[in-house]
Amino acid sequence: MKLTILGGGGFRVPLVYRALLGDHAEGRVTRVTLYDTDADRLGAVARVLGEQAEGAGDAPAVVATTDLDEALRGADFVFSAIRVGGLAGRAADERVALDEGVLGQETVGAGGIAYGLRTVPVAVDIARRVARLAPGAWVINFTNPAGLVTEAMSRHLGDRVIGICDSPVGLGRRVARVLGVDPDRARIDYVGLNHLGWLRGLYVDGRDELPRLLADPQLLGSFEEGRLFGADWLRSLGAVPNEYLHYYYFNREAVRAYQEAEQTRGAFLQEQQEGFYARMKDPAAPPLTTWDRTRAEREATYMAENREVSGAGEREESDLGSGGYEQVALALMRAVARDERTSLILNVRNRTTLSVLDADAVIEVPCLVDSDGARPVAVEPLPYHAVGLVTAVKAVERAVLDAAGSGSRAAAVKAFALHPLVDSVTVARRLLDGYTKVHPGLAYLDRP
Ligand code: G6P
Ligand code: MN
Repeated sequence: MKLTILGGGGFRVPLVYRALLGDHAEGRVTRVTLYDTDADRLGAVARVLGEQAEGAGDAPAVVATTDLDEALRGADFVFSAIRVGGLAGRAADERVALDEGVLGQETVGAGGIAYGLRTVPVAVDIARRVARLAPGAWVINFTNPAGLVTEAMSRHLGDRVIGICDSPVGLGRRVARVLGVDPDRARIDYVGLNHLGWLRGLYVDGRDELPRLLADPQLLGSFEEGRLFGADWLRSLGAVPNEYLHYYYFNREAVRAYQEAEQTRGAFLQEQQEGFYARMKDPAAPPLTTWDRTRAEREATYMAENREVSGAGEREESDLGSGGYEQVALALMRAVARDERTSLILNVRNRTTLSVLDADAVIEVPCLVDSDGARPVAVEPLPYHAVGLVTAVKAVERAVLDAAGSGSRAAAVKAFALHPLVDSVTVARRLLDGYTKVHPGLAYLDRP
């Protein structure tokens, strides 16, 4: 099995490789091709993987290349985990929005729109090349904003592209644990868009255990989303939202906290990772231990701003271990490659799942996965408040796809202006002007 990782110089690639090293079964990955536009980062990560493989007899071979077509040819699976504009781009996405008084965040609100406008043209180019050079390959998209980018790629790859995110899996596990339920035995009713979904039920042997959680203030106070949103609000909703809904339900507090923070999350990570890549260029540096320490630091501060604002506290170590995105990706790849039927929450085309969206709209929903790919399972309809957010944000995504396809600034302004977290068309226009100034990757938006 040949796996190609786009964004192969990325910080999380060693996590993926570590997970591959633990797989000894038939049909496992035997060759990993790392592709990146940055040869230095590629070299640094290839070196870490080399050290990880030491002593493992059946470690997958690692090849690194800066040639995209060469990376894609012959691939069975393609993990797309690119960051167009790098972390400097993310920091600018966050900063421009905060300076306008609206949420500046990687994937939600104005920051996510700017990131999408930069990323969609690149993702579409990749999708076209995959369709030409590796038409039988499955693309697993981690690239954020994951729902939007998956939808852009699906226009060229159909259901051969599947988007993933670790957040709904983590949420399901936390809710199961607090209820004292084995997460692998529970059926979770979760649906929405990526980073915009709600867990509305958790069934064991056909019985919904969620009402027991919502009725118990002590249980509600004992897990992350319970503290993040507060018991009263969860009870009012009758559901547990994805942690990213915090940016909607507590928008004012989140914007203020981010404005007052010394650095944005992107700027913080940029600084931290520059240190890592610089160390990795030193031939005398002890890579694995260095990398492990850096990772531990990073995960300790993971979404820390969010938790600080709300008092949600640190994420439990077990969440990081078992629900991480590399685990989701591997579970998905195994189910497809070995025809092992599994249920996973994924980003796929809606078909008829949510009646308020058209069939091609990519949604995040529990899916049955086997060698035919991923098919959404039936879920309860969304309540009106969720219909409102989901359809509004899908309209924003469609405006981004329009702008990316046509180069139209009007479409880009429309994307910002329609977003529920951007409160004025005037602000939307200024946001686009601000982003165009700082992002060379937006120069293509040159038509009225
Ligand atoms: C979670 C989300 C990802 C997101 C990441 C941000 O894993 O599911 O979509 O990119 O958090 O983490 P970071 O450490 O980059 O802020
Ligand atoms: Mn995600």
